[in-house]
Parts: sequence; structure tokens; C-alpha cells
Amino acid sequence: MYYNEDCINGAKKYLQDNSIDLIITDPPYGINADSFDKHYNRNENTVIDGYIEVDNDNYAEFSLKWIKEAERVLRPGGSIYIVSGYTQLRHILNALSETKLEEKNHIIWKYNFGVYTSKKFISSHYHILYYTKPKGNVTFNTYSFYSDTEKNEKGGSLNYNDREDVWIINKEFKPGEIKNKNELPKTLLIKMIMYSSNVNDIVCDFFLGSFSTAKVAIGLNRKACGFELNEIAYNYQLENIKNYKEGYLINKIRKVPENKLKNKGKPLNDELINEIKKDYKILIKNNSKKQAIDKLSKKYGRGYWSLLKIIDGTTNKSENRSKDLELFNNI
Ligand SMILES: C[S@@+](CC[C@H](N)C(=O)[O-])C[C@H]1O[C@@H](n2cnc3c(N)ncnc32)[C@H](O)[C@@H]1O
Repeated sequence: MYYNEDCINGAKKYLQDNSIDLIITDPPYGINADSFDKHYNRNENTVIDGYIEVDNDNYAEFSLKWIKEAERVLRPGGSIYIVSGYTQLRHILNALSETKLEEKNHIIWKYNFGVYTSKKFISSHYHILYYTKPKGNVTFNTYSFYSDTEKNEKGGSLNYNDREDVWIINKEFKPGEIKNKNELPKTLLIKMIMYSSNVNDIVCDFFLGSFSTAKVAIGLNRKACGFELNEIAYNYQLENIKNYKEGYLINKIRKVPENKLKNKGKPLNDELINEIKKDYKILIKNNSKKQAIDKLSKKYGRGYWSLLKIIDGTTNKSENRSKDLELFNNI
């Protein structure tokens, strides 16, 4: 369900405690949104009118109110991703610190078409604050896009790269299409939804704008809901979203090969540890450390780091760690 209401009152009225699996949202930035268009040199005719801003002076109080509601409606273990520019970030972080939500990651989203400035650095990132509600099972689908052993052309782990907390994702260029100011790109939404929810989960956006979160959630067979206070955008998008069929994105998502590390996370005993160490001693005579561990990984179905711990002893000392990381990821 989508509501043309203020998200704070709307959540109080329509959303039960502990009822939402995932919230992805992009609150108004508390700056004069019209100034964006000058910088971006955009054709305002295709941007929907009536974007509702929040007063700078009220931003802290506003943030606290909606974030408290978000905390209430999330199920234990549920996740929230908040997209924020740097100007009001401190208010969002302060509000989050007033809740029991737990920080998982502070993600940097680097995008193209930063606002051009000649006398300072060009701003080309947003912050994405990823938090979870305590006391429940957190959904984090580690292998959403890459299996545990897939490598890039330099031999680095694709899964590792995809789960780094700096995301380089371009904004979508949609000449001539009707859109909201600051519409989030599909790729970004797919990433958050795939990692942090499962089919049939409820995904809510407190600031729907162009309903981009809802459109992607439906495409991935999740249920969507949310709020948009701007009546013009709401009415337009309520009709428009009918064109988005359930599951329309499923076939566009990369098919992930089966994981190969079958014994990852399984307990080890002394006998097995000694066997691995013995094999390593033989392998290291004719292989680099990385090659030897790769071979052990194939044979024992275990990950690089756990094998490294066995080989180096349990204390994988921090001075070795950056060297090992380099080997592992071939940076
Ligand atoms: C940054 S935009 C969201 C953009 C959206 N993520 C997208 O991809 O299109 C913020 C939206 O929140 C709406 N808004 C502002 N105050 C609101 C409130 N109190 N409750 C619900 N929506 C609100 C604005 O009209 C605007 O559409």
C-alpha cells in the first residue's frame, strides 16, 4: 500500500510494530532542491513538480521523529538503509544514535555527474547508513551476486569486491522521461534489496518520490509499501506503478554459480588441521603462498582466511594481514 501522507503520521496510522522486513529510504536533503537543477543543467519540464523539502531548522527534529517510527515498524532483525547527502548527515547520525538500531556499515555511494565546482573538490558521493534492529535474524544474502570462488581478471574475489563498502554506481540518465528529483538508480536499489531481503518480504520506503524502491521491490517479488507527501508525484506514480509486473527483474539478475567452499564454517578437529598443515608444507615447495592456499581451498572446500589461520597459527598477526589481503585480493 502507498499513502499520500506525511510518513511520520502515516506510519503511526497504518504500520504495525515489528511488521516491516526492510526499509530503504532517501529523505529530503534539507537544502534548496531547486538549486540542484541549475548545477545539473537539467530539463525541468520532465521533473515532477511539488517536491516537498524539510526546513533546515527542523531537520534534526524531523529526522528523529521519522527514524523513531522506522525503528518501531521494523521487525527484530530487519534492516534499514538511509541515503543522505553530507549536509544533513550529522542529524541523521544523531537521530540513529537515539535508537537501539545497530550500525552495520557506513557505505559511500560514489556516483557520476557530481555538482561541478572549480574552487573546491567536486562532490560526487552520498552516504548510505545501513543499520539493523536487534534481537532477530538479520537477512544478509552474502552470495546474492557472486559465489565464493569467482574471480576477476586479476584473480581477486568478485564476492569480496561486491561487498566492499564503497559502491560505484552511476545515476541513470533518462532523457525525456518523467522523473522525480534525485531518483535513485535501479542498480543501487537492486543491490540493497537482494542482500537484505527475501522473496515476499515487505520493503517500505518512507519517502517514495518516484516510487523507485517500490518498483524494484515488486520486480524482485517483494511486497512494497510507503509514503509520499507530494500529491502530484503520488498521483502520477500510483498510476505508473501499475505498469510494473511482479518479478519483472528476476531474469535480469545474474545467475550465481553454486558455492564451491562446501565446508566453509564447519568445525575443524586436530586431525584435519594437521593434515592441512602437512599438505601445505608439500605444496609450498613448488607454489607461491597464494597458489598453495588456492589448491588447499579446492581440496578441503574451505575459504582462504580460515586456511591462512591454520597455516600461520591462530594469530594471523596484523602486520601480516595487509600482505595477506594483497595476496588474497590481488590489489
Ligand atoms: C529525495 S526524495 C526521494 C526520492 C526517491 N528515493 C526516488 O528515487 O525517487 C524525497 C521525497 O520525500 C518527499 N517528502 C518530503 N517530506 C515528506 C514527508 N514528511 N513524508 C513523506 N514524503 C515526504 C518529497 O516530496 C520527495 O519526493
